[in-house]
Amino acid sequence: MSNVVRVAVTGAAGQVAYTLLPRLASGEVFGPNTKVILQLLEVPRSVFPKAMEGLEGVAMELEDCAFPTLQEIIVTDDENTAFNGVNYALLVGAAPRGPGMERKDLLMKNAQIFQKQGSALAAKAATGVRILVVGNPCNTNCLIAYRNGKDIPQNQWGAMTRLDHNRAVGALAKKAGVANEEVTNVTIWGNHSNTQYPDFTNAKIKGKPATEVITDRTWLETVYVPQCQERGKAIINKRGLSSAFSAANGALDHVKSLLKPTPAGDWTSAAVISNGEYGVPKGLVFGYPVRSDGQGNLSIVPGLSLDTFGKSKFDATLKELLEEQDAVKDLLPS
Ligand code: NAD
Ligand code: LMR
Repeated sequence: MSNVVRVAVTGAAGQVAYTLLPRLASGEVFGPNTKVILQLLEVPRSVFPKAMEGLEGVAMELEDCAFPTLQEIIVTDDENTAFNGVNYALLVGAAPRGPGMERKDLLMKNAQIFQKQGSALAAKAATGVRILVVGNPCNTNCLIAYRNGKDIPQNQWGAMTRLDHNRAVGALAKKAGVANEEVTNVTIWGNHSNTQYPDFTNAKIKGKPATEVITDRTWLETVYVPQCQERGKAIINKRGLSSAFSAANGALDHVKSLLKPTPAGDWTSAAVISNGEYGVPKGLVFGYPVRSDGQGNLSIVPGLSLDTFGKSKFDATLKELLEEQDAVKDLLPS
């Protein structure tokens, strides 16, 4: 065993982290020959005593798994300690929405967390750190963290649309009656919110355009798209809690994609900092089709076209992200 990877997870006593952490520690993501040091952040005891206590319990459970790949667990309520030397930072810690809330209701509530964590990451993380923002509203939280942590190059930041991507794949596979792996080339454009556009027009099923396999365009536009957009809310309504293991799974899939080249001809979805691609203003954190080189670098797939329906959905999600950006403008240093 020669490699050691340091992984920070914030909100580490929360429900997403509860399934994220054992899978990170187990070797599933970084392989059997890499030791993992988990650097776990929670809110200070002075603010909410139960959080650090809960985290200590989680750390005890991790110890009790005796994973051969888990080298060390650091439990802290200090950002600088949590982000010290980290190669990956999974920013999960933030209040989730409850029944009756929209994700944008969380904007001001969670924004300051990401302002502080962006600066701490820039000060403390390893060169080459890869950051994934999961805490909602994740695109704009990522924007805040990036703008406050600008010493970290922009291609090292991302926000999670992989759960949406997996949802979009699963729903097409179910409708077409095929295995999940036979659905490819799905894109989640824009925001991780109910304006996202799960693009079925460029998707493929068994290598054929999805629209040739599922010919019911009305279903695609009026059932499939809203189902993907509102899936988070539907789960909250059923469970009384927001999605947890599927969210953790999306985050792990995102990190695995960074480590492995994307199969030829396919792509996946991630929200990354725009350089103006597809007419999105530079600097916005926008969900795109991306490919990975397997070395931690995602590149945006160029040249996809959208039809009139797709373009209207794209414009709606772009508009929402611009509004979110405007709402947090005071937290965005230039
Ligand atoms: P949770 O309430 O169970 O856990 C969140 C944890 O974050 C809590 O333990 C809380 O104490 C901690 N926390 C809050 N502020 C913190 C800070 N400044 N530093 C460190 N920790 C902090 O919530 P959850 O269900 O685990 O969800 C976590 C976040 O992930 C929520 O914002 C939720 O909306 C989001 N989420 C995103 C996606 C996605 O697809 N992007 C999917 C599911 C959940
Ligand atoms: C999800 O999509 O399940 C999460 O972002 C939780 C939410 O608020 O929808």
